[in-house]
Amino acid sequence: KTKLTEELKKLKHKLDLGLVPTMGALHNGHASLIKKAVEQNNNVVVSIFVNPTQFNNKEDLDKYPKTLDADIKLISEISNDIIVFTPEVSEIYQENIVPKTYDFDGLDKVMEGEFRDDHFNGVGTIVEELFKIVQPSKAYFGEKDFQQLRIIQKLTEIQHIPVEIIGCEIVREGHGLAMSSRNERLSKNTRQKAALIYETLKTAKNKFGTENALIIKDWVNDQFKNNKDFKLEYFDITDVETLTPIKNKIKSVKYRAFIAVYVENVRLIDNIALN
Ligand code: PAJ
Repeated sequence: KTKLTEELKKLKHKLDLGLVPTMGALHNGHASLIKKAVEQNNNVVVSIFVNPTQFNNKEDLDKYPKTLDADIKLISEISNDIIVFTPEVSEIYQENIVPKTYDFDGLDKVMEGEFRDDHFNGVGTIVEELFKIVQPSKAYFGEKDFQQLRIIQKLTEIQHIPVEIIGCEIVREGHGLAMSSRNERLSKNTRQKAALIYETLKTAKNKFGTENALIIKDWVNDQFKNNKDFKLEYFDITDVETLTPIKNKIKSVKYRAFIAVYVENVRLIDNIALN
C-alpha cells in the first residue's frame, strides 16, 4: 500500500486515473476491461486481491486460483505502464475480517444476493476501500457480473464517492460460454456443453416481447430439468435499474435475463439484455 501511494504521487496527471479491480486468474474478459481503461486514461491501476469477505465458504476461497506471474504477463502485454496493486489481507482488513453492512436499496436481495449471503456487503467493502486507496476518476466493471455493476453504481451514490463507473460488455469463448476463471474447472467436453447456457439466454431473448415472461421462465426451467449435466439455480427477468423481477405486463423500461447454473458442481452465471 505504501509503495502504491508513492507510485501514485509520482503521476503527472493525477486526476486521470482508471482502476480495474480484479481477483486475479486473469483471462480475456479481464483483459477487455484493462484495454478499455488504457484507452480512456493516462494512468491505470489493476488491483489483484482475493477478497475473503465476499466468499460464502472457506473452501471456495481456498480453491480460488492464484496465477500472479501469468497475470502480470497478461497485463504487461497490454501496456507496460500499468500499476499492479496486490495488497495483503492485513493491509485491507485491520482487525476482523468482516464486511461492512450497506443499504443497497434491495439490489443485493435478489438473484446472487438470495443465494450468496453477505456476498455484496463483502464486494462493497473491498471496492469502497480500493476507491479510498487509489482514488480513481474512472473504474471498470464487467457486465458479466451485472448485479455487481449495479451495486457498485449504488455504492458510489450512497457513499458519495466521486468516480465514474464504466460497464464493459461480456467477453465470451468461441462457442458462447461467458469467460470466467471457473471455466478452468470444467472438463473440455463439459465446457462445450455449457454453451447451452448462452444458447438458452439467446432463445429467451427471441421469445421476449412476443411471449409472456412467466412462460419464458417455464420454458427455461424445462430446458434444464431433464438434463443430468446441469442444475438450474435461478432464471430471472428483471428491470435493469431496480433488478426487480418482471410481473406479467412488460413496462416501458429495459429488461435483462439472468441465469445461474451448476455444471459439474461448478456454479456459472450469465445474463443478456432483452430490449
Ligand atoms: P473478478 O471475478 O476477478 O472480476 C473482475 C472484473 O472482471 C469484474 O468487473 C467482472 O465483471 C469482470 N469480468 C469477469 N469476467 C468477464 C467477462 N467474461 N466479460 C467481461 N467482464 C468480465 O468481480 C470481481 O473479481 C470481484 O468481485 C471484485 C469486483 C474484484 C471485488 O473483489
